[in-house]
Amino acid sequence: MSEPSDPSVAGDGADGRSATGSESGPATGDGDEPSPGAAARERVTSKIAESASGNAIPPGPIARVPRSKMAAREWYNSLSRWYDVIADPFEAPAREAGLKLLDAAPGERVLDIGCGTGTALVELNCAVGSDGVAVGIDLSRGMCRRTSRTLAAADLDPGVVVEGDASTAPFSDGTFDACFASFVLDLFDTPEIPAVLEEWRRVLAPDGRLCVVSLSRREAGLITRLYESIHELYPTYVDCRPLYLRDTLLDVGFEIDAEQVASAWGLPVEVVLARNG
Ligand SMILES: C[S@@+](CC[C@H](N)C(=O)[O-])C[C@H]1O[C@@H](n2cnc3c(N)ncnc32)[C@H](O)[C@@H]1O
Repeated sequence: MSEPSDPSVAGDGADGRSATGSESGPATGDGDEPSPGAAARERVTSKIAESASGNAIPPGPIARVPRSKMAAREWYNSLSRWYDVIADPFEAPAREAGLKLLDAAPGERVLDIGCGTGTALVELNCAVGSDGVAVGIDLSRGMCRRTSRTLAAADLDPGVVVEGDASTAPFSDGTFDACFASFVLDLFDTPEIPAVLEEWRRVLAPDGRLCVVSLSRREAGLITRLYESIHELYPTYVDCRPLYLRDTLLDVGFEIDAEQVASAWGLPVEVVLARNG
């Protein structure tokens, strides 16, 4: 799992900064050592820059998610009835940004991973139309039932949802043109993430698109640190935790097509469109 050397300055290149912040070192001239005074000034300047950028948290390991699959299933079963009221208002803007980036087209085959109550799955099915299909997979039976109801209420096929674990997706290689995962990758424990992403690549067609929406440690500040402390105390209930999403996708061989930073509960969220390279 990649952790950029200084995510507080990580950028997508559009602002002229590299993802590792390698352009940010002080110019010292042709091999001249900086004087002790210059080095001290540099330290002070970077401290000021850090506080000006919202008390960016230093790079560090992402938090673990010490919860069994069974506990995750039970938690989301119990939450399924209330999910749209409790969580949806906070997650919806970032999820919508992801759907826009994915831009599912008529005739496509799309997988909505961890489809929750089915809100995105309805939008995806409308986008692919009757020549395509969007299928949902979710670990929780309660969430799958909610999704079926949401689909039926929108006059769509209520059967396009599968109860299952997205780390062992029951689909053949290359089945989907696109996969969508909103606030799901950030639920898998750290050692599991590379294998989970490999599984999502497996079910994607060569050149297929993966759009992931996840809480992010890039450009994160004090509120993220506070959130991580709460996650550490109650990992079963405050379960999504911030990742370095872009770098993690690059690590397993995806290419990045587009990215945005959104927010949920006041926390930064990465919305990344990647390609099965
Ligand atoms: C935070 S909710 C997000 C729901 C939806 N994607 C959204 O954006 O509204 C996470 C969902 O992922 C599901 N989930 C968690 N672990 C999963 C796994 N291993 N495989 C499939 N679904 C999983 C949960 O049951 C839950 O419905």
